[in-house]
Amino acid sequence: MIRKAVIPAAGLGTRFLPFAKAQPKEMLPIVDQPVIQYVVEEAVAAGITDILMIIGKGKRAIEEHFDRNFELEAGLAEKNREDELAAIRRISNLADIHFVWQKELNGLGDAVRHARHHVNNEPFLLLLGDTLIQSPTSLCRRLMEVYERYGESVVALEPVDPAKVGLYGVIAGRPIGDGLHLIEDLIEKPAPGQAPSNLAIASRYVLSPRIFDYLERTPRGKANEIQLTDAMRLMLRDVAIYGVTLEGRRHDIGNKLDFLKTNVLYGLEREDLGVEFRAFLTDLLANP
Ligand code: UTP
Repeated sequence: MIRKAVIPAAGLGTRFLPFAKAQPKEMLPIVDQPVIQYVVEEAVAAGITDILMIIGKGKRAIEEHFDRNFELEAGLAEKNREDELAAIRRISNLADIHFVWQKELNGLGDAVRHARHHVNNEPFLLLLGDTLIQSPTSLCRRLMEVYERYGESVVALEPVDPAKVGLYGVIAGRPIGDGLHLIEDLIEKPAPGQAPSNLAIASRYVLSPRIFDYLERTPRGKANEIQLTDAMRLMLRDVAIYGVTLEGRRHDIGNKLDFLKTNVLYGLEREDLGVEFRAFLTDLLANP
């Protein structure tokens, strides 16, 4: 059974400057909730009880968000604002949350290396802390089921615009039915014309703990960083890796346009705001 999740959230967020200068991009709000809280809720909904966040300089707001805030709780209790009080308390009780510092930002692969001690030889769910998944069924649960069936690592895959494959880790693979792929190769940010498919690795993984041995042996790759995709490519020489096609949408909040779009999508779905927000957008489009 997979109990642990790892959420890397140490990155600089250079695509979201100036906001990310002194604030974690993982704390950007989607309506009124930080991205990383949605990510934690997604993991918890899939059955995860223990979460390790990889954080770095300037990321203390993430710790504070998942800690208790007694002053705020007392203020809300005094004003009888029971709903807000329950919502605030719930955040610190979502899971057993731990933090580790990535002191030098050497890439996603390096961030994941920092989880070795905590993960301690168990398979784990990996969720990027700046990316949301909207899907009719739990993608994480599906990844966990595939891991439990085959006993090997599994990644979520998303078909992307062929013109944009160079922005992602991309796989070559063979469909084996039921939305599953047996992966044959993985390439981080392929050069134009070099992508083996348009199936991008989509920010959710279940990894076998043997990934840590391969990460130790992975040289610096694209952007002079230790790339998780390169470590998985090394691992693929020895063991199988599976892919699961995402049925739904992935929102990369570290990208400004995706951030705006996601706020619109989530805002429209909100019971308390959706009707008025839709009327505003309809009017805006009719009278630009
Ligand atoms: P990104 O690929 O979005 O990189 O990381 P980034 O450095 O954060 O952002 P840009 O490209 O400069 O705008 C994907 C996830 O991996 C984490 C990030 O915090 C993000 O949640 N990450 C990335 C780390 O934890 N450490 C790193 O060294 C790099």
